[in-house]
Amino acid sequence: MRIPAIKSSLPGRPAAILSAVALLLAMGLGLYLQSLRAGPAQPIPFSHNLHVTSKKLNCFFCHPYATESSNAGMPPVEKCLLCHNVIAAQWEPIAKIHKYKRMGKGIPWVRVNKVPDFTHFSHQAHLAREFDCGVCHGNVAEMDRVYQANKFTMGFCVDCHKENNASIDCYTCHY
Ligand code: HEC
Ligand code: HEC
Ligand code: HEC
Ligand code: HEC
Ligand code: HEC
Repeated sequence: MRIPAIKSSLPGRPAAILSAVALLLAMGLGLYLQSLRAGPAQPIPFSHNLHVTSKKLNCFFCHPYATESSNAGMPPVEKCLLCHNVIAAQWEPIAKIHKYKRMGKGIPWVRVNKVPDFTHFSHQAHLAREFDCGVCHGNVAEMDRVYQANKFTMGFCVDCHKENNASIDCYTCHY
């Protein structure tokens, strides 16, 4: 039995519409997948892409403790105001920075990267070995909204420890 040729039986117009719909669906899926890559909404729409890639600010200018302590540290409001007392000071998202300053509280940034409490991690030892931030955090410099580039599964940590002859003793990371 011969299978009828469905495609050739469609007149040109509906075929074009069908492919246009398929294209729109594909684009929609693309946007959706991209939105999954965007991290959580933050209280202020801070963009690393703008501040690091366009304005050439160094990571350590805002995360100064990464080499010395377990926490990389978040910049205090005052650091933003070094520039934003003047730059775009009236603009709504920037006015919000001034509001947090007046309230005397830090900006309540939503945490993106986290290991469970029973797991020990410190930036210090890793940066002393000169690993780039991107090995673990991806290309933050080009992110408009920070997302977690790598899941910090045990395998992620242990694999790299093995590759670099670092300890894989349970007590290194769990105590
Ligand atoms: C002008 C200040 C500034 C600079 C420069 C900066 N950051 Fe940030 N960073 C922030 C702020 C504010 C947040 C919190 C809001 C957010 O997630 O965007 C943050 C968040 C992050 C986070 C997510 C923290 C979490 O909750 O897990 C990572 C990772 C990070 N930055 C890495 C970098 C790296 C790598 C660089 C250099 C390429 C860099 N940052 C440069 C201000 C800065
Ligand atoms: C070295 C100066 C400098 C510092 C420090 C700085 N910014 Fe900016 N920021 C800028 C410049 C320049 C612009 C671009 C303004 C424009 O487009 O007119 C900008 C734009 C912004 C915008 C506008 C949104 C966007 O992405 O277009 C936000 C929000 C912002 N900054 C938040 C912050 C926060 C929060 C901090 C502190 C963690 C900070 N900035 C620290 C220079 C700075
Ligand atoms: C070996 C992997 C690794 C490298 C390299 C690394 N980080 Fe992290 N970073 C992490 C992990 C894991 C966390 C979550 C830590 C936790 O939950 O205690 C984290 C958390 C953070 C945070 C969130 C808040 C905080 O203060 O801890 C910031 C900001 C950050 N890193 C910035 C940086 C910057 C900037 C660099 C480069 C100078 C860097 N990291 C290099 C793995 C890494
Ligand atoms: C890019 C490779 C790499 C990744 C990824 C990595 N580590 Fe490490 N880690 C190392 C190396 C190398 C050392 C040994 C540093 C030294 O002592 O010279 C180390 C040391 C450590 C130490 C002991 C030093 C200290 O701070 O007490 C702990 C704990 C640790 N890592 C936890 C983690 C955890 C948890 C993760 C996953 C979230 C992780 N590491 C991911 C390479 C890595
Ligand atoms: C280099 C760091 C590192 C070492 C070494 C390590 N772990 Fe883990 N472990 C982790 C991280 C990170 C997590 C959290 C995983 C997550 O949240 O998905 C974890 C999670 C766990 C969990 C919770 C269940 C799970 O799988 O998420 C158990 C149980 C555990 N580890 C046991 C061990 C034992 C036993 C050893 C020694 C054989 C060990 N770990 C060595 C980093 C490490």
